[in-house]
Amino acid sequence: MERRHFLVTSATAAQAVLAQAPNDRVGTAVIGTGNRGSYLLQGVIAQPNAKVTAVCDLKPDRLDKAASAAAKDNPFTTKEWRKVIERKDVDAVYVATPPHLHAEMAVAALEAGKHVYCEKPVGITPAQVRSVVRAAKRSKKVFVSGQQLRSMVQLGTAVGKIHGGVMGQIYMIKAQRHASADLPHDGSSGDWYFDVSKSGGYLIEQSVHNLDLCNWVMNAHPVRACGFGGNMRYKNEPQGRTIFDNGSMVFEYPGGVKMEFTQNVFHPRQMPGGNQLVYIFGEKGGVDLMYSTNFYPHTAQGENVEIKALAEKVKEEPHAHTAAFFALVGGANGKNPADITIGASAALTAILGHEAMVKQRVVTWQELGVEL
Ligand SMILES: NC(=O)c1ccc[n+]([C@@H]2O[C@H](COP(=O)([O-])OP(=O)(O)OC[C@H]3O[C@@H](n4cnc5c(N)ncnc54)[C@H](O)[C@@H]3O)[C@@H](O)[C@H]2O)c1
Repeated sequence: MERRHFLVTSATAAQAVLAQAPNDRVGTAVIGTGNRGSYLLQGVIAQPNAKVTAVCDLKPDRLDKAASAAAKDNPFTTKEWRKVIERKDVDAVYVATPPHLHAEMAVAALEAGKHVYCEKPVGITPAQVRSVVRAAKRSKKVFVSGQQLRSMVQLGTAVGKIHGGVMGQIYMIKAQRHASADLPHDGSSGDWYFDVSKSGGYLIEQSVHNLDLCNWVMNAHPVRACGFGGNMRYKNEPQGRTIFDNGSMVFEYPGGVKMEFTQNVFHPRQMPGGNQLVYIFGEKGGVDLMYSTNFYPHTAQGENVEIKALAEKVKEEPHAHTAAFFALVGGANGKNPADITIGASAALTAILGHEAMVKQRVVTWQELGVEL
């Protein structure tokens, strides 16, 4: 995939920003100012063509913190997200609430004529994803999903080279998202994360990034999946837990390429092979995509060749995804790094794996019933 697929060039972005008078700054609201929302808010504040006109959260301490962070713009503050969407001084809406609320909020914002940056996952059920796909396609405004790996320069270069044929035909993928522990049970997201009806579970809430990377490499989404999941370490912790603490799945892509995916929250910190992996195996060799982007050619026994990275390590811009959003909103001619098709495909891939584990059978993409 070419760089233009995920980066709005800095030249066009700068032109679009310069073309805007200070009063034309994009009035921006952030709904949900918790962990992620407050980070995104920093990114919004850093954009020369943005002005924070509203912040919204149910929790007063978070709302106060957000209002203080954006004090130079004196934003409107509220607990009621619909009030944000009704405002004329809000042109763009960030949705950073728990996953089960994304679709309703994103659809309402799009229907009110706002640009939308919607955190991942776009939705946690096929019906939710479908509603956002329809609204985003009907809207003439910008919609960016929070699949921010798509704005990472090193990954984009490496994926571009794979698409260019550096490893020949792709045969198979092994990917995982392992952690050494659960999210803190009494942490800030504890009031929704362990409830599958609110978060969608570990696969949909977190692994959606890794699954999106697999889709990016394959330039496709899977056609079917099977797998099993369950709880081994955290059986009923926190009490009432309805998400799995582990799962093993196989996804099949067009052409019969299999992607094996595992997730767990009990990979010991010091044990090798932990954390996140995306290994691509192909005709000419393999690539460790998640960390090094190293390419390992196939070699004869005893033959040694130099292992080279497909892309140089770069210092990634922390708010590159938000910068791309505002460049597009400002009128830059660039390709959206994570449009609705990318965001919906990522969410549906995770939903496919989740449904396969819950139903304990092969589930097909077609069954999800969402037209992209
Ligand atoms: N792209 C990424 O890398 C990334 C990283 C972390 C989190 N996220 C996503 O961001 C979202 C939020 O995660 P988080 O870690 O910030 O969770 P969090 O619990 O820290 O924050 C969520 C906030 O939403 C608020 N909220 C809940 N219901 C609301 C409502 N009806 N109206 C207004 N505010 C409401 C909560 O009070 C809370 O402050 C999740 O969807 C998560 O998947 C994305």
